[in-house]
Amino acid sequence: MTELTAGGDPEAAYLIRGVRVLGAEPTDLLLTGGVVAETGSGLAARGARVVDGDGLVALPGLVDLHTHLREPGREDAETVESGSRAAALGGYTAVCAMANTSPVADTAGVVEQVWRLGREAGLVDVQPIGAVTVGLAGEHLAELGAMAESAARVRIFSDDGHCVADPRLMRRALEYVKAFDGVIAQHAEEPRLTEGAQMHEGEVATRLGLTGWPAVAEEAIIARDVLLAEHVGSRLHVCHLSTAGSVEVLRHAKARGVRVTAEVTPHHLLLTDERAASYDPVFKVNPPLRTAADVTALRAALVEGIIDVVATDHAPHALEDKECEWAYARPGMLGLETALPVLLDVLGERWDLIAERMSRTPARIAGLAEHGRTPAPGVPANLTLVDPAARRTVDPGEQASRSRNTPYAGLTLPGRIVATFLRGEPTVLDGKAVK
Ligand code: DOR
Ligand code: ZN
Repeated sequence: MTELTAGGDPEAAYLIRGVRVLGAEPTDLLLTGGVVAETGSGLAARGARVVDGDGLVALPGLVDLHTHLREPGREDAETVESGSRAAALGGYTAVCAMANTSPVADTAGVVEQVWRLGREAGLVDVQPIGAVTVGLAGEHLAELGAMAESAARVRIFSDDGHCVADPRLMRRALEYVKAFDGVIAQHAEEPRLTEGAQMHEGEVATRLGLTGWPAVAEEAIIARDVLLAEHVGSRLHVCHLSTAGSVEVLRHAKARGVRVTAEVTPHHLLLTDERAASYDPVFKVNPPLRTAADVTALRAALVEGIIDVVATDHAPHALEDKECEWAYARPGMLGLETALPVLLDVLGERWDLIAERMSRTPARIAGLAEHGRTPAPGVPANLTLVDPAARRTVDPGEQASRSRNTPYAGLTLPGRIVATFLRGEPTVLDGKAVK
């Protein structure tokens, strides 16, 4: 038996009783000193606080590669703290914060600020993403090296919200980050093909009389970028893949050994462009919701591993930016608090697959060594407990996010996140944020 002195204070210990790690037979988990100290059945509490894990499944804490926290600049829509709380309630222990803040996270100063705010909130590890270009303007490379060397240790760079459309700049960015094994995360959208676009280009857009965003605008950039990544020998990550054609481009690139990974959002796995017929801007998002055939292809690619990761693209927007005419509304939807229930709905209780796509692989891509590890002795105690038997109806008013733009309002989804632990300390207990 491990002595409790091994990590320190028995007061800080938690004993989770009878939990099914990745759906396996029930076991106890003793968390102390920030790690899983011991596993097995019938562990003695020895002063540890006991959490009843009966009927619950333990997963490695989820890791989001694509979160918009809006701070600095739009604290009315979200803050690092409110977004961190939403993340913890969704079962996350780490999130990567996108750079399209105001000011843009294109300097060591801004990424350090976001990183520090994350530490102060202490609810999830907030790993800032740096901008690729100054001000996301697509003209000059940002201080990638300085951001990498800063206290925030940035490894992922993205102009998300905008595409790095200039191929020469994209090539330079890929070359630059190769030195420190960084990755360029591309928002794949050929801007000349999406001018004025309001939704997916297809039958529904024609019927509604809205300008379309064609699938090829995404696919053409991905095709170009995998070739550039191959040429440079550098790492590319494709944000929010949304079309069946993109899956085929990726399949081809992976077969050639290109160092490319890709993510899909929960909303692109569940919703289609038919939702735009409501003209409710809550369904306006970039890239847009696609067709049922795309959804089918994305689901299959996720299971197969052509798509590596589920990332939320959690995009909070203030009421005035969403509750207006479709054409004027900002694109984006909330995702952190509903991602795991949506995935349970889409995939069923395939725990190992869920852990792989929502925790282990995103942790590896982001270089977060403490995350993405299945609870076992000696492993950092970053984990979440889910009740798969519970079903919950999404109520926008109950979300911890400062914004209300969930596309799932009124929808009943499987699974309830009961508890989340960050380095052995609960951030969520009994479905409620601890602080
Ligand atoms: O829908 C989106 N919203 N897509 C993006 O690329 C950016 C994001 C945002 O920042 O709101
Ligand atoms: Zn994007």
